[in-house]
Amino acid sequence: MKRRHFCQSAVAAGVAVATATSRGFGQTVQAGRREGEPNLFSPLELRGVTLRNRIAMSPMCQYSSEDGFANDWHLAHHAARAVGGAGLLIAEATGVEPEGRITPNCLGIWKDEHVPALRRVTDFVRERSAVPGIQLAHAGVKASRYRPIHPTPNAFVPLDQGGWMPVGPTAKRYGKDGPVPHALTIDEIRVITGSFAAAAQRSIAAGFEVVELHFAHGYLGHSFLSPLMNERADEYGGSFDNRARFLLETARAVRRALPEDVPLFVRLSCTDWVEGGWTIDDSVKVSRLLAQEGVDLIDCSTGGATRRAEIPVGPDYQVPFAERIRREAKIPTGAVGLITDPAQADAILAEGRADLILMGRQLLREPYWTHRAWRELKSSTPAPIAREYAWALAETRQR
Ligand SMILES: Cc1cc2nc3c(=O)[nH]c(=O)nc-3n(C[C@H](O)[C@H](O)[C@H](O)COP(=O)(O)O)c2cc1C
Repeated sequence: MKRRHFCQSAVAAGVAVATATSRGFGQTVQAGRREGEPNLFSPLELRGVTLRNRIAMSPMCQYSSEDGFANDWHLAHHAARAVGGAGLLIAEATGVEPEGRITPNCLGIWKDEHVPALRRVTDFVRERSAVPGIQLAHAGVKASRYRPIHPTPNAFVPLDQGGWMPVGPTAKRYGKDGPVPHALTIDEIRVITGSFAAAAQRSIAAGFEVVELHFAHGYLGHSFLSPLMNERADEYGGSFDNRARFLLETARAVRRALPEDVPLFVRLSCTDWVEGGWTIDDSVKVSRLLAQEGVDLIDCSTGGATRRAEIPVGPDYQVPFAERIRREAKIPTGAVGLITDPAQADAILAEGRADLILMGRQLLREPYWTHRAWRELKSSTPAPIAREYAWALAETRQR
């Protein structure tokens, strides 16, 4: 039995459901799309979850928690984009351990007490026909930093000011300040893998329906993958297989902890953008292995292992990575990074370069972007806007 369906109104309106499950991959967005219907408003089915459209809010730290707890701000942040029509909202990097937070103000899910406040957010999101997702994270060597609105943003938070000792694959600093991180022992690595699995179980209790593992941006997961950050000589360092071990073991443990019908995403930094770093070839290879572990979608970001990287930032600059992984590893992908325009987003899907569009900053500027895209692309699907508003707007009344 399927977990939940969010596209009943779309089905009622005669819109076929395109599927891109790991089982049925190969049916592109085009396959189930009604003639003339924009790709962006074609539902996406992953395991037991159906997204009403292909627009996801990318995880974005709000640095607004105390002791990891969600609060009214998290509700407002998610509520605005759910009402604004996005299909999936992925909650910010959420610490699986207190030491896994980037800042003391990051969201957490390391204890059962965190669950009820998160549940309040997911209940609202679901009631508004969006799917609540969560990004599970450990900040690794980049942990214990002041939040961006602090007078010394990103500076190390001293241990006697509420900070903690960062950990990583190697005792190697990332920033200029702060202590040299503690190099994790093999037993400690396995404890963190267990913390990801426990956090995944809590995520289900909190009502999340999609779980994403954060293995990007130089945080703990990525730091094991990247030869720029991982200088270990044991079974978790050196060869590709050894550097990929933490990711594959964590994906396996989390997959086991999740119900069969809950999709699992992995966010990768698909390249370090530096000679000698993690490459797109590595990402394709690891994505094939992740597909075998029951991962359903690769969320394709880049960078974060080194400040030396020169990143050619511009519209669609990360889309080629989503395209290659999708084509060569035969797993659904998400494209992210400076996707701001409805026609641009629709074209990425139409050209088979990705299955899902993740948007960050544009959805901060414009929580109702999805509704604007629906109007501009002239979708015939039900209006992605709150019923309390829809009746009052001419364009939604006429359909
Ligand atoms: C305020 C802010 C917070 C972010 N926090 C996270 C995060 O928690 N996890 C993550 O993987 N990426 C994070 N990112 C990166 C975004 O998810 C996204 O990948 C990036 O902003 C590029 O997409 P955009 O051009 O649509 O903003 C953050 C970005 C912003 C602007």
